[in-house]
Amino acid sequence: MFVCQECGSQSPKWLGRCADCGAWNSLVEERPQEAPAGAPGVHRYALAGNAGSARLYSDIEIEQHARLSTGIDEFDRVLGGGVVPGSLVLLGGEPGIGKSTLLLQAAANMARTAGPVLYSSGEESEHQIKLRGERLEVGAAPLYLLAETCLERILEEIARIKPALVIVDSVQTVFSLKFQSAPGSIGQVREAATQLLFTAKGQNIPTFLVGHVTKDGSLAGPKALEHVVDTVLYFEGERHHSHRVVRAVKNRFGAISELGVFEMTSTGLRPVPNPSKLFLAERPSNAPGSAVLCSVEGSRPILVEVQALVSSSSYGTARRMASGIDQQRLSLLLAVLEKRAGLNLMGDDVFVNIAGGMTVDEPASDLGVLAAIASSVRNRVIPQTTAMFGEVGLAGEVRGIAQATLRVREAAQMGFRRCVMPEANIDPADRGQRAGDCELVGVRTVGEALDALLQ
Ligand code: TYD
Ligand code: MG
Repeated sequence: MFVCQECGSQSPKWLGRCADCGAWNSLVEERPQEAPAGAPGVHRYALAGNAGSARLYSDIEIEQHARLSTGIDEFDRVLGGGVVPGSLVLLGGEPGIGKSTLLLQAAANMARTAGPVLYSSGEESEHQIKLRGERLEVGAAPLYLLAETCLERILEEIARIKPALVIVDSVQTVFSLKFQSAPGSIGQVREAATQLLFTAKGQNIPTFLVGHVTKDGSLAGPKALEHVVDTVLYFEGERHHSHRVVRAVKNRFGAISELGVFEMTSTGLRPVPNPSKLFLAERPSNAPGSAVLCSVEGSRPILVEVQALVSSSSYGTARRMASGIDQQRLSLLLAVLEKRAGLNLMGDDVFVNIAGGMTVDEPASDLGVLAAIASSVRNRVIPQTTAMFGEVGLAGEVRGIAQATLRVREAAQMGFRRCVMPEANIDPADRGQRAGDCELVGVRTVGEALDALLQ
């Protein structure tokens, strides 16, 4: 059987291009597993002890399991308040970003508080992991290291040690003896994830899986993996910056798009309790093209600086480059600026960047991006102590957005004196009011916003 490694579709013969998803050169030969002999249903998998019979909703008792803390508060926050017993968590990220570091730190902390932890690595030897552990000052904790890639061996060790937490460093290196295909192929990864799922649920052991990502940033191998696990976390960050962001993209036990911010230091990852301060640290003073926007990630407001540079193009076609925001969104905002605010950007190169390597993808960041561009075009400075947020519509209107109060509070806390925001988000009862030291300026259109910002 030939199986597409991108989408999992099967074909009896090799094809250069997958007939289902259109991916090139993605078919790999896998031997189908023979159905186990005996009566059907004998070899079934079970998530709970009483497999087979359905139970009445009202008969099922809620098991109150306290969440376990990883000892790293930013990590707990992304997980929705700690590790849920019996949950399966997938942590994805580019090579060298700090996945093994974070999990080793969490493992050491949990070994101290929750009981023995099994850290199984298919990428490094015990010796190498210990070397890293020395840097992280793991110290004396019941932490078991296992350099193993065979799934059956890992499951044996889990049964022997009965750990409070299992970490499998890179699910792509694990292979099951039942399959003859190579480790990392879709069949192997799926089998490993499923077996570990049954162990996690059946014995109530929380399990972390590390997953590799492909060049385009999605998890390598099957998307199917994301369906199997309870929580999917992505590690983001740039090689050239020391800070790292862990983002939840799926969480059965908490809010998604929740994020934790860390800084990579010589002794491991350190949580950053106040990310706004970090992202605004190097803001230039009195420079045109710089604006501060309040973005909300999950339940947490973060102020980030957006920078824009508009310069006349020396080539026929103008270049538009966006980093940290969506390129399509940038094109849309430029069109709105041209049409609704009367700016002429036809022959200009436009570069937009979110400082510090952050990514913002919520519509509330529109106003900030637009203001930064206008500020650069008109060469006028947006006052240092002004922050902004709001969605911009195609008619040039500024639309209300969610969680406005949270954003204003964060801006006021960070010392901003003025907040330019959608009129719709200001309660008519307290128009013209201030939140603490922060003056609230409501705007209805892009024109009004620019007047308020570029005085
Ligand atoms: P690692 O956790 O091995 O990445 P991954 O498992 O995601 O591939 O992190 C490796 C990087 O982190 C490496 O470039 C070195 C750096 N690092 C530090 O800066 N400080 C530390 O204390 C540790 C352990 C690693
Ligand atoms: Mg690693």
